[in-house]
Amino acid sequence: MVFPFRLPEVVYMGRGALENLSREVERFGAGRVLLVTDAGVQAAGLDGQVVEAIEKGGARVEVFAEVEPEPSTETVDKVGQLVREGGYQLLVGLGGGSPMDVAKGAAVLATNGGSIRDYAGIELIPREGLPTILIPTTAGTGSEVTQNAIFAFKDEKVKKGVVSRYLLPKVAIIDPLLTLSCPPKITAASGVDALVHAIESYTARRATPHTDIYALEAVRLISSSLRAAVFNGGDLEAREKMAMGSFFAGVSLANAGVGAVHALAYPLGGRFGVSHGVSNALLLAPVMEFNCVSSLPKFARIAEAMGEPVGGKSLREAAMLAVKAVRELVQDVGIPQSLREVGVSEEDIAQLAVDAEKQTRLLSNNPRAMTREDIEAVYRKVL
Ligand SMILES: [Fe+2]
Repeated sequence: MVFPFRLPEVVYMGRGALENLSREVERFGAGRVLLVTDAGVQAAGLDGQVVEAIEKGGARVEVFAEVEPEPSTETVDKVGQLVREGGYQLLVGLGGGSPMDVAKGAAVLATNGGSIRDYAGIELIPREGLPTILIPTTAGTGSEVTQNAIFAFKDEKVKKGVVSRYLLPKVAIIDPLLTLSCPPKITAASGVDALVHAIESYTARRATPHTDIYALEAVRLISSSLRAAVFNGGDLEAREKMAMGSFFAGVSLANAGVGAVHALAYPLGGRFGVSHGVSNALLLAPVMEFNCVSSLPKFARIAEAMGEPVGGKSLREAAMLAVKAVRELVQDVGIPQSLREVGVSEEDIAQLAVDAEKQTRLLSNNPRAMTREDIEAVYRKVL
């Protein structure tokens, strides 16, 4: 089997990794830098030290902090125009997946022109973008190491992905110290998103022996530290394990892709504004239950990695323990347990399934084929 494997040029991972930012800015020789972030990051006071580090690298920096949660194509287009007109040479994305995805999108718009809407799909961006440095402040999205960016197409009420090698950042700086102030709810939702990346990419059709190493270790790290990170945000060891687990999950996601959990989650974001992390968390256990029989050995290894007692169990029993372990973890960290809690009712399911079915890029990577009826049945299970 031949498989490609991509990563950013450099990844700095670990406590104090942010110290490398000045040197990296200097290396690009950029005179003008745009820092793309959001109000939450500013409220947490994380932007000041980043601005300082960029200036220390010899650049003038301006800040765009108006990225909204689940960012729209309009926002990306606006930042792309700002970058073009302002003559910026380097973009730094600071925050969760939303600011990082906007920085990635705007960087390619700066050199390619047009609207980000023109590039939704796989490898449709003609030219390399401006260089980007991405700095996550949550442990979850993995956006700092992937070639994907997801945006809300408001008029169609859907979220679509732009996938291109040109979206890969040049530099990722993953510093767990930046996640210490992340509030419990966001820690929980983004942490489960990272777990989804690990589990979905591990069981994906495009999974390879190379991505499996990252995915399984990510499952181990996240499942053993998420509760501690949520309930005691100051637990630096838990934050470190989460940062590393999310990074590994991102690497696996970037190269093996994800599947039906994401496909069924996007319509919840598009139509009901449910955050990416919460919508994924709602669907993880029911989709695993559906997928389980298609690859029992892999699901059994997930159960083992999550610390379940698989010894002496049949393969099927062991695999089912993975579903149970995920359900308990999601419940423990306080994420909504049903679609009704996020405003979905029985009458909405048919439309959600129609929307989910359009996510062919993701569904074709799911280990088990899904019909419209299968999709509806999974939604009903968590209604
Ligand atoms: Fe995700």
